[in-house]
Amino acid sequence: MPRSITLIFILCFPQLLLGNTSALKGQVHRAPASKTQLLGEALFFDTNLSQPPGQSCASCHDPRFAFTDPDKDQTLSEGANKGRFVTRNTPTAMYTRFTPPLHFDNDEGLWIGGQFLDGRKNTLEEQAKLPFLGFAEMANIDGQSVVNKVRKASYAPLVKALYGEDIFNDSEAAFDAIASAISAFERTSQFNPFSSKYDLYLAGAATLSKQEQLGLKLFEAEDKGNCAACHPSRPDKNGQMPLFTDYSYDNLGLPANPLVPTVDLGLGVTVKDPAENGKFRVPTLRNVALTSPYTHNGSFSTLKELLEFYNTRDTDSRWGKAEVPATMNTQELGDLKLEDEEIDALVAFLKALTDGYQENRHSPSKSP
Ligand code: HEC
Ligand code: HEC
Repeated sequence: MPRSITLIFILCFPQLLLGNTSALKGQVHRAPASKTQLLGEALFFDTNLSQPPGQSCASCHDPRFAFTDPDKDQTLSEGANKGRFVTRNTPTAMYTRFTPPLHFDNDEGLWIGGQFLDGRKNTLEEQAKLPFLGFAEMANIDGQSVVNKVRKASYAPLVKALYGEDIFNDSEAAFDAIASAISAFERTSQFNPFSSKYDLYLAGAATLSKQEQLGLKLFEAEDKGNCAACHPSRPDKNGQMPLFTDYSYDNLGLPANPLVPTVDLGLGVTVKDPAENGKFRVPTLRNVALTSPYTHNGSFSTLKELLEFYNTRDTDSRWGKAEVPATMNTQELGDLKLEDEEIDALVAFLKALTDGYQENRHSPSKSP
């Protein structure tokens, strides 16, 4: 936000500066949030909105880990009820505001976009309602039960102030309001800071180490990592900083996670086309150093291990067989012939995608 607008904002809404910002620590400087965003934040962190109480969105999307599950030892996340696990690894909720709605791109001949790893919802607003109701997530029986809990929350007056005195009398409208406030929070700079070392490098304000530079080169070289083919690494023609995903879908030939009871067909189910079975949306790689475990079923615990899989999937039998072999990508990965130092350089580059770099610049963190 330009400074003059920020100033007007502060003059008009000084009370907003007093909002609860404890959850915002460790992130870059932010402009003051609007009331809707502050409501969204309160909802996102409220552990009373699950059944039984105890789990919030942030329980699985923790800001300390780029809004992923802090429980790094588990490949899948546990819901509000002990022993109920979601069948996918929690992805970052950061930068999701940029995901376009699911559509078929006729030029590319590919499905693009959609929220969730299989694209089954189109907007953040639609997305935000589902975890409240998910059996292995917050497990409310319906929207009405969520609304009943919000009605009793300390921030209920804010809901009324923003959406009308009578909002709680219409549970559908109230549930929509809840989802819309959460989405407003997800659109703030807390989720979209663009403050990694690589962002500064692109802006000419930071220098990459030799190893990171090599990593970037390998990431982009078609005859090496070729990563940028799916995870674009340069600003687009409109000047949008890179999001490290082209929002297309692919099947990396990952082995199954034995904890997942059935074969996960991903996009194939969403678009009802067996040719898309086993494909998942290309994820952003922003903050990926903080978001282990990796991939939709969480079967890789380190970046190095995942990159070794990209490198030798087709030449090393230790990886086991693909869960959905029929649609596996055999053109762009599987036998990359990268040296060990090259893999380390790629990992070093991926670590330069962690937000908040400027702030931590003086801390004695070493490159790997
Ligand atoms: C029990 C853990 C858990 C809880 C609680 C949870 N999520 Fe998630 N979230 C996940 C998982 C797992 C996925 C991926 C699911 C899929 O692809 O089917 C996901 C996906 C998402 C996505 C889409 C990410 C993408 O790349 O498309 C967003 C946004 C999100 N969650 C926001 C929320 C919000 C908002 C809440 C609270 C209302 C919430 N989550 C509660 C585990 C959780
Ligand atoms: C053909 C497209 C494609 C190429 C090329 C590609 N990726 Fe990916 N990448 C994907 C898809 C799709 C996923 C998600 C797979 C899944 O979860 O099933 C993914 C997942 C990842 C993840 C896991 C992220 C997370 O949050 O779990 C990392 C890290 C990654 N890729 C890095 C790379 C690197 C580094 C390269 C180059 C060596 C590369 N990728 C090349 C499509 C690609």
